[in-house]
Amino acid sequence: MNADRRPFPHRHLLAIADLEPADLLQILDLADSFLEIGERAIKKVPTLRGRTVINLFLENSTRTRTSFEIAAKRMSADAVNISGTSSSATKGESTLDTARNLMAMSPDVIVVRHAASGAPALIARHVDAAVVNAGDGRHEHPTQALLDCATIRRHKRRGQSGLEGLEVAIVGDIEHSRVARSNILALAKLGARVRVCAPHSLMPRDIERLGGDLTAERVRAVARLDEALDGADVVMMLRIQSERMGGEIPRFANPREYSRYFGLNLRTLERARPDAIVMHPGPINRGVEMMPEVADGSRSVILEQVTYGVAVRMAVLYLLGGGAPEDARA
Ligand code: CP
Repeated sequence: MNADRRPFPHRHLLAIADLEPADLLQILDLADSFLEIGERAIKKVPTLRGRTVINLFLENSTRTRTSFEIAAKRMSADAVNISGTSSSATKGESTLDTARNLMAMSPDVIVVRHAASGAPALIARHVDAAVVNAGDGRHEHPTQALLDCATIRRHKRRGQSGLEGLEVAIVGDIEHSRVARSNILALAKLGARVRVCAPHSLMPRDIERLGGDLTAERVRAVARLDEALDGADVVMMLRIQSERMGGEIPRFANPREYSRYFGLNLRTLERARPDAIVMHPGPINRGVEMMPEVADGSRSVILEQVTYGVAVRMAVLYLLGGGAPEDARA
């Protein structure tokens, strides 16, 4: 069945944990088909005409917020943006009250970024609109994992899912990373193998069992960068998320020491396969987790990830916002 004709069996997109491999592939296939709309002179299709998408971003964002807005506009939906600093959250309004008030204006989709894990799921229980998690605390960032899988698939095309048997290294602050959690689940569901690598103090216990038996089989925690990189097809670097460490004892000596043991440079990258791609969800702390010559080098697909971000978010809005198949690419 065509990806745009299969009924999507979810009302909201809250976590990769909720999705079956067929759901992931449906979104990836649709995103592939929407990619070319961004290359047209007139980057717009009418499929979500008359629909309203509210982007409720109560935590900072550059890529995710902008790409959801562009995605909604490319599908002809009306997009409204609310950020933390300009919302009445600064006057003490609760997130749930904010969501209920937004619902009174009849949006079709509410996209939520929030510093608290579980906030989008809480909102989803109290509103009639479809809710998309655009990153909640250290829980999940499902559309980031989807755009990462779409980018990997485009470069590797391995097996039926496009990711089967690939060796993916995820290196950095795994403890505080929603991107790592969503990617571990998505990659394992699509048949890849994942090595996660972090300083001991930034590696959550039992990360291999995040997705039960499936991830126990496919995910391995390693302590050393060379172990993570050896023969890897994909190297995904993550930044240290200091904003989620408020008041905690420092987890490593200083950025220079972190960089020495866990930073990706041209020399350490030699451990990976010669055709390995380098990824980062952004924002990058250049010179800490990744050297500029790698970030800007020929193996970096970091800006392609951003381009795919729009196509993946178009696919998600289309599926949850009730897009018209006959207008999907018209
Ligand atoms: N990757 C990501 O979520 O970036 P932003 O925080 O800029 O949205």
